[in-house]
Amino acid sequence: MKHTGKQRCQESTRFFELAKQFAPGGVHSNFRLGMKPVPLFYDRAQGSKLYDVDGNVYIDYALGMGPAILGHAPRTVIEAVASSLGNGQLFGGQHRVEVKLSQEISRLVPCAQKVRLSLTGSEAVQAALRVARAYTGRHKVIKFEGHYHGWCDNIYVSINPEAQVMGPYDSPATIPGSRGQDELAYKHLQILPWNDIEVLRRAVDAGGDDIAAIIMEPIMCNSSVILPQPGYLEEVRDLCTRRGIVLIFDEVITGFRIGLAGAQGYLKVTPDLAVFAKALGTGFPISCVAGLSRIMDLFGKGEVMHGGTYNTNVVSCVAAMSTLEELGRDNGLAYERLHHIGSRLMEELRKAGRQAGTNLHVQGLGSVFHTTFTDQPELTNYRDYYLRCDLSRQSRFVEILMEEGVRITSRGTWFLSSAHTENDIESTAQAAAIALGRL
Ligand SMILES: Cc1ncc(COP(=O)(O)O)c(C=O)c1O
Repeated sequence: MKHTGKQRCQESTRFFELAKQFAPGGVHSNFRLGMKPVPLFYDRAQGSKLYDVDGNVYIDYALGMGPAILGHAPRTVIEAVASSLGNGQLFGGQHRVEVKLSQEISRLVPCAQKVRLSLTGSEAVQAALRVARAYTGRHKVIKFEGHYHGWCDNIYVSINPEAQVMGPYDSPATIPGSRGQDELAYKHLQILPWNDIEVLRRAVDAGGDDIAAIIMEPIMCNSSVILPQPGYLEEVRDLCTRRGIVLIFDEVITGFRIGLAGAQGYLKVTPDLAVFAKALGTGFPISCVAGLSRIMDLFGKGEVMHGGTYNTNVVSCVAAMSTLEELGRDNGLAYERLHHIGSRLMEELRKAGRQAGTNLHVQGLGSVFHTTFTDQPELTNYRDYYLRCDLSRQSRFVEILMEEGVRITSRGTWFLSSAHTENDIESTAQAAAIALGRL
């Protein structure tokens, strides 16, 4: 008999009770709080599969919240990292692999004339914002409702504001995401709805010459998975060029996931700066800010500070270099496979939704997509997602999928890897049909 609820995670529950004594909430990232029935503890992961401490197996579409583009523990990357270990991890100086890696990122990514490596998406975003302000000599930054750019004081704002506080559509309230945030840190931030060029134009006109940067996820993956409306990015690009505003694409999710050239390559719009993390290291910690030399060189002149003890540690650089080699092999065969498999899974899920008589909505691309419940034909911005989807049904679907052996992110996002197989898709479609029936 299949165990559901707490029965299937007795060992995780035991670990959780112990963990809570030493870590607040029993976890080490607030995004892991509140998992039902308890935050699970995992034992190992291989390819497309994840194994928890109770012996449950999951087909994994969370992939460490996106990074594991080659699946878990990919052999070639692990071997490359293992063979580097005996030669040291951190030199507090330069080494060959970091040069090769920067050169490769620069070759692959349209905006990447120069690259600075670091470890997390959050800190690379900080570097991008700082250098944009220094370059323009301006203060204001435009950020969009529902877009996430890390957890720092100046940008962890209006990520998922609730209906009663979000304010008018075309001038949303600025809502900090945490108690304790310094309100001076986000004083120069203006929040706008994404995917609406008229509202943006008006804000830029009103902002005069004090807007340093516009930052966005070029495909919004933190609130559903929403593509830009046709022509939107081109118009934003044009507006930024005309007004001397630095356009920053946060490609922490889309970079090296949508393709080797990121969302900017796929959508054919080149920002001035872009931030990468997650898939770049297929699970090893690495990030970068990349962009035009005339902006990035402010770091090189020492005018704009960017630092970090662990920047370009050997393990992360070797892992990233090996990941890029794997992704580029056989003319990008890995991408072809994962897009094909992901698109097939999207179709299977739509079919399961129809057959179960539900309004299951599947939106995105083969490499990253989202499921929710709504009667809208398309979600185009945060409010479509937050106000017009049945989010409690969405959460319940995530929970039941887990019980049926399929793990997706708690917010309903599915990440594909090159390790997922046709068999995984078939098993997932069956699990989804059962889960929809149980809803
Ligand atoms: C678009 C985006 N930007 C920035 C970040 C922050 O990255 P990190 O968690 O590595 O600090 C994330 C994390 O999920 C993200 O999705």
